[in-house]
Amino acid sequence: MSNTKIITNNWGKIDPDKIESYIAVGGYSALKKFIRDLDAQTVLAEIKKSGLCGRGGAGFSTGDKLSLVATQGGEKYFICNLDESEPGTHKDRSIVDNNPHVLLEGIILSSLIIGAKKAFIYINGHYEKQKEILEMALEQAEKNEFLGRGIIGSCYDLEVEIFQGAGAYVCGEETALINSMEGNRGEPKLRPPYPTGSGLWGKPTCVNNAETVSNIPWIILNGADAYSKIGAPCSPGTKLYILGGSIRNPGVVEAPTGITIRELIFNFGGGLPRGKEFWFTQIGGASGHLVLESELDTPLTFSRECPVSLGSGAILVVDRSVNIYDLILSWTGFFRRESCGKCLSCREGTFRLHEIAGRLQDGEISDRDKESLKDILWTLNNTTFCPLGKFAATAMGDAILKLKILGD
Ligand SMILES: Cc1cc2nc3c(=O)[nH]c(=O)nc-3n(C[C@H](O)[C@H](O)[C@H](O)COP(=O)(O)O)c2cc1C
Ligand code: SF4
Repeated sequence: MSNTKIITNNWGKIDPDKIESYIAVGGYSALKKFIRDLDAQTVLAEIKKSGLCGRGGAGFSTGDKLSLVATQGGEKYFICNLDESEPGTHKDRSIVDNNPHVLLEGIILSSLIIGAKKAFIYINGHYEKQKEILEMALEQAEKNEFLGRGIIGSCYDLEVEIFQGAGAYVCGEETALINSMEGNRGEPKLRPPYPTGSGLWGKPTCVNNAETVSNIPWIILNGADAYSKIGAPCSPGTKLYILGGSIRNPGVVEAPTGITIRELIFNFGGGLPRGKEFWFTQIGGASGHLVLESELDTPLTFSRECPVSLGSGAILVVDRSVNIYDLILSWTGFFRRESCGKCLSCREGTFRLHEIAGRLQDGEISDRDKESLKDILWTLNNTTFCPLGKFAATAMGDAILKLKILGD
């Protein structure tokens, strides 16, 4: 297995507050290479060839998305999605904490490739410290002419602005994010049109996750072939996995895609603490599937064929001492709170699911509740306006099916 580190390579070695520290390890040389030796077409072809796909959850081809905006004329925007509201997920925040300039270099490159003169960083409303780090990084990049008018003596101009969200989970979804930036209610819009065609203020807009963007400098410096050889061929590269719950070494680790859940928990995470017995793991945050011991050898990829959706990359390890009813109440409470209320099936469905979870915890669940549960889960899975409804049903559905919380 490759142990190439693309994003975490310089974590702990450089001072995140000092641009010189990043430049000393080769930082901003991808931008210099792009400006001096390459053109947008060549770099776009290279990103497509690398197989890089979105790390925000859906796994869409990054090269294809950039191309969709690059091929359009007129005003356009690049938005880096740093909303990161999925419970148990803090990988994007860790990138900012440890190496803000690799993210910034990725944002600058992505914007220049698509021909945008304006980019935004949409940051989680709770990420005050990270906002300050990024403000400082932007100031330093501008002083070094990596931003602003005539970037390092070229004809490229770019302005990057930080936009702070108000902390709603659904605003991580790209159309809700754009709505909130436009001053509208933070709720998803009907797609199509997709943001690549009509995004922020009706202009073509490319929205990419912070981890996705942070891969771009490495691909430009090392080439698509080197990148595509790392990890699973169907969705190459590395991934930031967030290990949490009942695990000896919690935290963010970078490992190739295609790694198995077992390897992550036991090799990287050091296994469970002494005396704790593995029960199941949840992959991808509160919206993720539950995985039993018998499924731990599943390789994690972004492919549709992968039986477990990788999502944000969060791996929550749950041991047998955990009260499952408390956990279910916390999952359902989260989605009830975070439903934006736009569609009835999610607004009511998440509310009813949480109510039943409360009765389940109190040991007062009735046969009628059990029957209703089937209908509510079906409705959330099949009729909601955006994926949040499906997310709300996932863990409860798995707890019934795999953990048999309602019996056989
Ligand atoms: C309810 C919901 C929440 C989301 N939250 C995030 C988020 O916090 N960060 C993120 O990058 N993508 C999030 N997404 C996915 C975005 O809509 C979008 O697909 C992503 O930012 C695209 O970037 P990528 O192609 O680099 O993955 C969310 C999607 C949904 C449905
Ligand atoms: S599914 Fe939920 S979050 Fe999505 S639009 Fe409907 S109410 Fe809003």
